[in-house]
Amino acid sequence: MKSESTKQIIDIKDMQGGKSMNIIGISASSRKEGNTAWIVNKILEGAKEQGAETQFFDFNNLDIKPCQGCWACHKGDQGCVIKDDMQKLNDAIDRANVIVFGSPIYMMQMSAQGKIIIDRMFARFSPRYSPYFKEESAAEKRLILTFNQGNPDPELFKSYIDYTKHMFELLEFDVTEVPVVTGLRNGPANEREDLNIMLKDVGKTIVSEGISK
Ligand SMILES: Cc1cc2nc3c(=O)[nH]c(=O)nc-3n(C[C@H](O)[C@H](O)[C@H](O)COP(=O)(O)O)c2cc1C
Repeated sequence: MKSESTKQIIDIKDMQGGKSMNIIGISASSRKEGNTAWIVNKILEGAKEQGAETQFFDFNNLDIKPCQGCWACHKGDQGCVIKDDMQKLNDAIDRANVIVFGSPIYMMQMSAQGKIIIDRMFARFSPRYSPYFKEESAAEKRLILTFNQGNPDPELFKSYIDYTKHMFELLEFDVTEVPVVTGLRNGPANEREDLNIMLKDVGKTIVSEGISK
């Protein structure tokens, strides 16, 4: 006999025409066992428990070079001409229903690793004024933007975080949630039971909201 939780996962799949929701997580931190990786993975874990398929990308496991500013991506249809792991990440983004993008706050902003990925994302979307703009490539994808910081004050970087949310919206992402984890100067995220529950709930809600849309 199937357990209650297995049955719930099967029911959710059924409601999506037999397909699981595909959620990818990206950690824009150099610390593979650090707070950002843990936070992103907790959200994925919650989503997985609700039947989603998940995949995690760690910046330090990828070879992603900074944008060279050549504009080749907006002068033709070929996309970015740098051949590295950004293709792998772009393929995963194309297949995903939801992207969880996590970055630590470094010097009052996202990490340099995060900025490298975002600059390279410019090649994904020709701006609306470009002759190469394609309506179908601008189909909104849901994005959960999560920051974490040492400082305990959740309002401290609010203007920067709002600005970054807006920047992702310009890249045609539908940014629905921005969980900010604070106070990490007092100890690692993985020692905080409140975060364990809160972040898994974010992941679970992604799936339940996704199927009710
Ligand atoms: C270079 C550097 C700069 C940082 N700048 C800030 C900052 O401006 N404000 C803040 O609250 N925390 C700051 N922190 C703390 C980190 O945001 C925090 O420790 C975070 O959880 C690290 O995530 P990670 O373990 O994934 O690297 C900084 C940490 C580093 C290493």
